[in-house]
Amino acid sequence: MKIARFSRIGFILAAAGSAVGLGNIWKFPYITGEYGGGAFVLVYLLTVLLVGFSIMIAEMLIGYLGRKDTVSSFEELAPTYKDLWKFGGFQAMAGLLIMIFYSVVIGWIFNYIITSLEYLPANVKEAETTFNLMLQSDFFTQLFYHTLSFVIITYTLTKGIKAGIEKINLVLMPALMIILSGMFIYSLSLDAFPKAVEFMFAADWSKLNSEAFVIAVGHAFFTLSLGMGAIMTYAASMEKGSNIVKSAFWVVFLDTSIAIVAGLMLFTFLYQYGSGPAKGPGLVFISLPAAFYEMGILGNIFAVLFFLALAFAGLTSAVSLTEPMVQYFMDRFAFSRVKASVLMGLFFWFFGIFAILSNIDGTKEYLFWGGKSFFDWIDYITAAIMLPAGGFIMAIFVGYVLEKSRVEAALKPFLKWAFEPWYFFLRYIIPIAMFVVMLNLMGVL
Ligand code: PHE
Repeated sequence: MKIARFSRIGFILAAAGSAVGLGNIWKFPYITGEYGGGAFVLVYLLTVLLVGFSIMIAEMLIGYLGRKDTVSSFEELAPTYKDLWKFGGFQAMAGLLIMIFYSVVIGWIFNYIITSLEYLPANVKEAETTFNLMLQSDFFTQLFYHTLSFVIITYTLTKGIKAGIEKINLVLMPALMIILSGMFIYSLSLDAFPKAVEFMFAADWSKLNSEAFVIAVGHAFFTLSLGMGAIMTYAASMEKGSNIVKSAFWVVFLDTSIAIVAGLMLFTFLYQYGSGPAKGPGLVFISLPAAFYEMGILGNIFAVLFFLALAFAGLTSAVSLTEPMVQYFMDRFAFSRVKASVLMGLFFWFFGIFAILSNIDGTKEYLFWGGKSFFDWIDYITAAIMLPAGGFIMAIFVGYVLEKSRVEAALKPFLKWAFEPWYFFLRYIIPIAMFVVMLNLMGVL
């Protein structure tokens, strides 16, 4: 059987497609608003550059050398304790868990693409009412679009690496970049642009409490798709002899620049036409449409384009969140691709219904514990706990378990003099840094 592999550009676009997602355009701006801007952005940026980039190389390496699903790759590469190490691969489950709310949010976006064609809310109050109406009482609209998202994602996965995953990324990623650049260039011409720059980059350290710190680090993992096996699974289909370091660099670079461009653009629109940086998940669904309203018909066009770009970003990430478990069932249980894709799709579709219900009046009371809804819990457990933990395991695995000679052989040609510093970083600095994050997480610090 001929094994399908990504082309070089296909791999970079697919990995970048995984990284650039709702995390960049929906989540990053609103958590930046929530945690006060500048200082939060700096912690996120530092984590991305120092920790994220190093772990990205490590995760790609495991996939590239292992060539299989995440569980088998860990198992195969571990020189001893194979049965124990294979559990590192079960992190792939986190992807399906994330999909439970991710697919629902993609559904909201589909809904907004359609409604923005002819309607925009006249002010923030109205926008809030519209959004809450959908969120809290319109179960069927949410179910309909969540199902649509399930169909597109599952269909893409059934087509496989080349005709499914590579293809959707080759089309949607450039489209996304064109739309965002166009809107960004427009935002440069607005008076409010410098205000947005200031909000995002002027650090007010007093706003950075330990929760903000944990969220910023967690977000760095989430936005780079790290710690879960998405990048690992894609890397298993990389061409032999690929430059892992260069690919990792491009993914980090594209992901970070798109987050910053999207953030600057959104905050500019919000300062110029709206009420400034709003907080919470409603930011792009509430404050932004109200700001677009002020722009007249151009606002409708912008709104539709913006939500299209957001949908593109979300879909390419969603595919990568589901693929690791699809690959797992294909490799370990000899499922056909179609069967594995449909089964995994049905999993997140089914539990996604509970994510919807956890916001609906009348049912949400039953899906709410300890100050968070089912929806929020899944987000919190995956992004703040599972992904950093997964990244930690990968760093330890590449730093201590894999034979150094293998790591060196695969990376030294590309990292050159930077190999030893990178290796040192992975072995000593990252574990300590992650430990501090975990202490923070447990509220010890
Ligand atoms: N990186 C994606 C985003 O920013 C989400 C994601 C997380 C995808 C983990 C794959 C793995 O939206």
